[in-house]
Amino acid sequence: MIKVDISNVWGEISLPDLLAVEHEVAAAHQTLTERTGPGNDFLGWLDLPVAEETEEIARIRAAAERIRSNSDVFVVIGIGGSYLGPRAAIELLQGCNHNIGKGKGDPQVFFAGNGLSTRAWNELLRLLEGKDFSIAIISKSGTTTEPAIATRALRWLLERKYGTDEARKRTYAITDPCKGALRQMAEEEGWETFVIPPDVGGRYSVLTAVGLLPMAVAGIDPMEVMAGAVEAKQLYDVRSFENPVWQYAGVRNLLYRKGKAIELFESFEPGFKMFGGWWQQLFGESEGKDGKGIFPVTAEFTADLHSLGQMIQQGERNIFETMVRFAPPANFAVVGSDYKNLDGLNYLAGKTLDFVDEQAYLGTLAAHVDGGVPVMTMEVGELDSKKLGELFYFLELSCGVSAYMLGVNPFNQPGVEFYKRNMFKLLGKPGYES
Ligand code: PA5
Repeated sequence: MIKVDISNVWGEISLPDLLAVEHEVAAAHQTLTERTGPGNDFLGWLDLPVAEETEEIARIRAAAERIRSNSDVFVVIGIGGSYLGPRAAIELLQGCNHNIGKGKGDPQVFFAGNGLSTRAWNELLRLLEGKDFSIAIISKSGTTTEPAIATRALRWLLERKYGTDEARKRTYAITDPCKGALRQMAEEEGWETFVIPPDVGGRYSVLTAVGLLPMAVAGIDPMEVMAGAVEAKQLYDVRSFENPVWQYAGVRNLLYRKGKAIELFESFEPGFKMFGGWWQQLFGESEGKDGKGIFPVTAEFTADLHSLGQMIQQGERNIFETMVRFAPPANFAVVGSDYKNLDGLNYLAGKTLDFVDEQAYLGTLAAHVDGGVPVMTMEVGELDSKKLGELFYFLELSCGVSAYMLGVNPFNQPGVEFYKRNMFKLLGKPGYES
């Protein structure tokens, strides 16, 4: 079970404060599970964890095997909730440099269509030169501009390289089961398709083919991820403050009431960056509406202690932190001894890197708490595929409870449309002239 240590928030809130909101946390949890709140037609994610392999997951495995055997590179096209989950999963389990040295048998996984940068596009073209590749197009609506542009270009690349028939076999679409431009395109072109259920919003879709197909191509067993999510569904259903979901949701809500409007979600693992990005979208899009919401920011320590550290320590006191800790890996690295000791590091000789990391964590924690920053620590334990599934579900549940406590609909994102409308007008999209 994931543990949430709240002992370092007591300078800002008190136990009676927390107990006073118990009924609010309980009500928010109940609203979610009884599906009585706003956005309740988007609660399909609650039922995504499955203990038995479904026909869809079997097809995901088969497709992943095919891609692994015939492709050096797998390009995943998508943006927002149609992209962050799989990237977060792969980088957290395999590191940010997971693509180095990979090819057929264990393909590289690149992401496209998550921006409009020509430099990024040219870089992808260079990376694909001389490589066998397949693509997955992920879009629930099928009309999102960024992935649509990337889809056009990558389809043509595939067709020029392989001809129509083989290109068709190398193209996969993950989208709504019935409607939308991508569904229609996939059916007309004869691509293999996987489903984003209509009642699952993008940022809650990581346990569908959106997350599972790219994970499987990267060698992550979808059923192991599911096993963790299944366990989480049961573990975090407890209706009391023994439930870490309640602790996390209750404390962050109280801190917000005390003027802590920014949450820094951080870890001492570089592979965590994209996971932090996934969390940022989950909480940002779910809570940031009606003039309310905790601003979610992710950081990687110790690197960001050398950029954000000053602000955290002595800037405006409107921040709280959630530090995510993982158990150390089995293989360790040791600081060596140098007879000259010009760098003065011999006092650490023989110590493991993990020991040094642990002291950095403890030192940071003490400094930030002293500086008036409440800190929650999320102890995740061993990091593997199963734990990842647990973590995804734990955070989705925490987010739903948090947003209902805040009094907002966690499952819509009306504000995201504003930039699109302006962009469409500027681009001259038919229907957006005025
Ligand atoms: O969470 C969400 O719903 C959004 O981030 C969407 O996933 C994102 O805008 C992409 O939309 P679509 O999958 O329709 O292309």
